[in-house]
Order: sequence, then C-alpha cells, then structure tokens
Amino acid sequence: MTATGSVLITDVRLYGEGDPVDVAVSDGVIAEIGPGLPAPAGAATLDGRGGVLLPGFVDLHTHVREPGREDTETIATGSAAAARGGYTAIFAMANTAPVADNAALTDAVWRIGREVGLCDVHPVGAVTVGLEGKQLAEMGMMADGAAKVKLFSDDGKCVHDPVLMKRALEYSRGLGVLISQHSEDPRLTVGAVAHDGPTAARLGLAGWPRAAEESIVARDALLARDAGARVHVAHASCEGTVELIRFARSQGIDITAEVTPHHLLLDDSRLETYDGVNRVNPPLREERDKLALRVALAEGVIDCVATDHAPHASQEKCCEFSQAKPGMLGLETALSVIALTMVRPGLLDWRGVARVMSERPAQIVGLDDQGRPIEVGEPGTLTIVDPDAEWTVVPDELASKSRNTPYAAMTLPGRVLGTVLRGTVTHR
Ligand code: NCD
Ligand code: ZN
Ligand code: ZN
Repeated sequence: MTATGSVLITDVRLYGEGDPVDVAVSDGVIAEIGPGLPAPAGAATLDGRGGVLLPGFVDLHTHVREPGREDTETIATGSAAAARGGYTAIFAMANTAPVADNAALTDAVWRIGREVGLCDVHPVGAVTVGLEGKQLAEMGMMADGAAKVKLFSDDGKCVHDPVLMKRALEYSRGLGVLISQHSEDPRLTVGAVAHDGPTAARLGLAGWPRAAEESIVARDALLARDAGARVHVAHASCEGTVELIRFARSQGIDITAEVTPHHLLLDDSRLETYDGVNRVNPPLREERDKLALRVALAEGVIDCVATDHAPHASQEKCCEFSQAKPGMLGLETALSVIALTMVRPGLLDWRGVARVMSERPAQIVGLDDQGRPIEVGEPGTLTIVDPDAEWTVVPDELASKSRNTPYAAMTLPGRVLGTVLRGTVTHR
C-alpha cells in the first residue's frame, strides 16, 4: 500500500455545485462530508476558500525526462509540476534515454515515483524495442512487473508498420492493456516543422499535413476492429480526426482519444514570430481545427484532456524555428487553459471538467483509485480549484525544470488551490 494521510478540507463546493461543505479525509479515505466538520485526529487542514472540489486530475501523456535528460525534468520535478497543476496521477512516456522498453526500467520509474510521493507516476511502456518500430518490446513482462504497466506507446514516434501495429494490438488485447498511438505517417512529414497550411507556406516552413495524422487514425481504427482490441489516439489535432473517431465509434470500434490544452487554445497564427516555443508535434493547426476539438471534447467524441507536457532545455528551444525541439510544458497550466477554452465559453461545467481531466482518463486506462466520485468511502484524492482567480504565467515560477511554456506573460483564469493524494496534501 502507498502512504495515506488525513486532512480536513474546508469550505468547498463539490463539482462547483450546491452549498459549501467540509470534506474530512481519514487515512486516505473520505470519512465525512458536511458543514462544520471537526478535523480527524492528526489531520492537516486545507482551506478551500469557497472553491470547486474535483477528483484529482489524471494525465495520460506526460514526458518526464528521467532517465537521460534530468537537466530538463526529473520524476521529482515532473511530479511537483503535476501536483501544482492539480494532478494526482501521471503517465510517464517511454521516450526516455534509454527507452522504457523493459520491465527493469518501467519498474524503476514506478519506484522512484513512489519515493517522491507527489503523485502516482505510472510508466508507459514502449511498444517496440528502442522505439525503432522494428520489433515488439516485452509488453507482457512490463505489464506483469511491479509497475503493472497499463499503457503502451512509442510516443514521439508512430508505430508506422501496419503489420507490427496489428500484432501489438493483438497482444494488447490479450494482456488487457491499451496502446496510445502518436498518429503521424512519417513519410508525409519528412522535414515538417509546422502545420501544412497558408501560414507555413508564407513563412517558408515545411508543412505537416493533416492527412499524416488522419490516415493513421483511420488505419488504426480498422486494425483495432479486426484485432477486437482497443486503441487510443494521442494528441488529436485535426478536425478530420474528430470525424474519423466519430465514424469509428458508430461502427462499434473501441477507440478513445485525448486532446492537449495547447491544441484547444493556440493555432498556427502563433508562428509569425518564428519563436521555437510554438514548435510542437503534432503542430498547432488552424482556427477551425481548434474549434472542432473544443466541441468534440464537450460532446465526448474526444474523451479527455492530456497535457503532452514536454520539457526542453532553453538552448533547444531558443534557436531557429526549424531547429527547435518540438514540445511544450503543460502540467501547471492545463486547468487554466481548460477554464479559458471550455468553462468560460460554456462548453463544459465543472462536472464536465471532472469528466475530461479525471474520470475518463482513469477509466480509459483502468485505474481503480483515481477519478472516483467524491463520496464517503472513496479515495481522498482531490483537487481544489479557485474558479474566479486569475494569474499571470511567469516561467521562472514554474515547478518544472524547464521553461518552455507557450503561455508566458499570459493571464489565465482558474487556479489550483490545493491537491490531495490519498489524504496527503501535495500542493497548497
Ligand atoms: C514530445 C517530446 O518532446 O517528447 N514532443 C512533442 O512535440 N509533443 C514527443 C511527442 O509527444 O510526440
Ligand atoms: Zn506524440
Ligand atoms: Zn508526447
């Protein structure tokens, strides 16, 4: 069992509904909900200041750079960034150096995450050895290890060979695990650094066409159908991807998808300055993609938000656009970007936020102790949000070891006031 704590959370509105109440968490479990509660023995207290209480957020797509690039993020700093962002569980992608393609490594990530103790760190296992797309990794060994790996991905790269992807899906079905695909046909994106549209053409940047994503999403949906397997679409970025997922679902195909905060807020009009901070895979697309993704998330066609938190050193971002490494920070700003793009415009209420940031991601990957209802007897794994706060993003104030946030100097609505993992306060 993992460590548990006791805390009295005061003055919160569950899912932003009804009158303010207190929530007493005793030994990691919600013991009582009601007005004016006494603190459990030995409990910490956390003043909710009339804010919104939600189940802790679950991120299916985080890059912590340990092992290999601890200068840009470690499991400890990534966990701290997660806790600050209201996350209580993150899935650490496998594209580390060395690659997390074996149980020794996935178990090490899991163990370090537990020692840090700021959120549950679930390692993602690679689908292929070294992310090379040639030979399947020992998925079964990783699934059976201490970390009980539930999610597999070659993220950063696409499992491009359809025969290999078919076999990986067949294995995943047998193992009861899920494959998350980075949908990018590499033959269509050679040298690409930006969305293939009028902006990239004008700026002289090589384009990444929508079809590079859409064609893989369509193919994988069909492969999943034939394998009787599930498949998850990482960082969906195109209007057409939404329509393909809608169609696949109508055919009874078990496909799920995530969208990043940055694809909901930003578009390729940001590229005018050639600032490398805006380079990301898949690229920032056009206004109509952004709006289609928002509607799809509200409707549930896209299941959940995932940050694709991708820390990079400043020397790898502050350079010529085409030389900048792709990727953006996301953990500490996700809730605020969702408040701005989804809550303020009335596309989601706070119950909806609980669904897309906590409940659906936990269900998709089969976590039974996250994304749970806020009820007596359920885990005290919770996030408090001040919905009326506004804050200005200052890169140097982030807990992440890296500074590559696209939101620097932006004022965003909604702030995480506190995070609780099984009764232990991980952020306040
Ligand atoms: C990710 C990274 O830096 O590891 N970069 C990115 O632009 N999203 C890899 C990935 O998610 O494909
Ligand atoms: Zn990716
Ligand atoms: Zn990623």
